[in-house]
Amino acid sequence: MPRDLSKDERSADPVTLTESPNSVMTERSPSPTSSEQSSPSTERQRQFVIVPEAQQVEATNLHPYTRPLTVSDLDACVALENAAFTNPNDRATPEKFKYRLSKCGELCLGIYCTVLPNSGFRAETLAASRPIETARKNGAISVLLGHVVASKTNDSTATDDSMGVPENWDSPHPVPTKRGHQEAGRTIVLHSVALLPGFQGRGLGRVLLMAYVQNMNGAGIADRLALIAHDHMVAWYEKLGFTNLGKSATQFGGGGWFDMILELKQLQSRATYG
Ligand SMILES: CC(C)(COP(=O)(O)OP(=O)(O)OC[C@H]1O[C@@H](n2cnc3c(N)ncnc32)[C@H](O)[C@@H]1OP(=O)(O)O)[C@@H](O)C(=O)NCCC(=O)NCCS
Repeated sequence: MPRDLSKDERSADPVTLTESPNSVMTERSPSPTSSEQSSPSTERQRQFVIVPEAQQVEATNLHPYTRPLTVSDLDACVALENAAFTNPNDRATPEKFKYRLSKCGELCLGIYCTVLPNSGFRAETLAASRPIETARKNGAISVLLGHVVASKTNDSTATDDSMGVPENWDSPHPVPTKRGHQEAGRTIVLHSVALLPGFQGRGLGRVLLMAYVQNMNGAGIADRLALIAHDHMVAWYEKLGFTNLGKSATQFGGGGWFDMILELKQLQSRATYG
């Protein structure tokens, strides 16, 4: 269930005590009660630092949630893509977003948080955000923080064809083609995995991708996920369960990619409908 920030409108303290990530560990942290004191061998020693206000993470209590994307998220996705990928060659075009969100939005997932207007929250997707889908009187909006945008292919890895957009795809009778989304394909190609820069590095990318894998596991609509990654991202995907198949033949954005795949679990269907 979406939870919003309206319940927590406290302004941040000017300074926050936090544990140094590369602490030298010189001071002992006090135990609240004597009964909770641990033995000297197990007692953790911590060094605390005061993080200057300018370096503090501003948006706390995000309560992020995921939901499938639709074409109504087009502007927010384009804004997110432009902000997340500093190299324009790595970005999907607005046309590709429109195509994928229109044809297979059920394969695309966004991670959001709910924000009150004029709350001072900053995000490149704010201007494209829409009211959340409840009749809230406070005008709260749902702000896109990250997305996974995908389509299906008949191949077992991402290919240049799978990344294309068929001509006249939105005409009433589009000509069948190998380019773009293949409804009967058994491989889901992840074209874009991205978080807004201000929200990277705090686990949201992992939450988003794990939620995506969970959604697709056992859904029965595909056998595997595939994507292409630059070498510096290979380890991140491997940590999340993907396998590196080596250099990719794709020439998107000038090439130099690695093929990554993740086999989906095929859970037995336990529900019947109709
Ligand atoms: C890639 C991206 C989606 C990751 O999301 P994120 O929220 O920043 O990453 P997370 O905070 O979830 O990372 C979780 C873990 O991966 C680690 N990690 C982050 N980047 C890594 C990298 N390049 N290689 C290996 N591990 C990495 C983190 O240290 C963290 O590890 P921990 O849980 O053990 O501490 C995000 O950084 C992004 O949008 N980058 C720009 C766009 C992009 O490059 N997309 C990928 C295209 S292939």
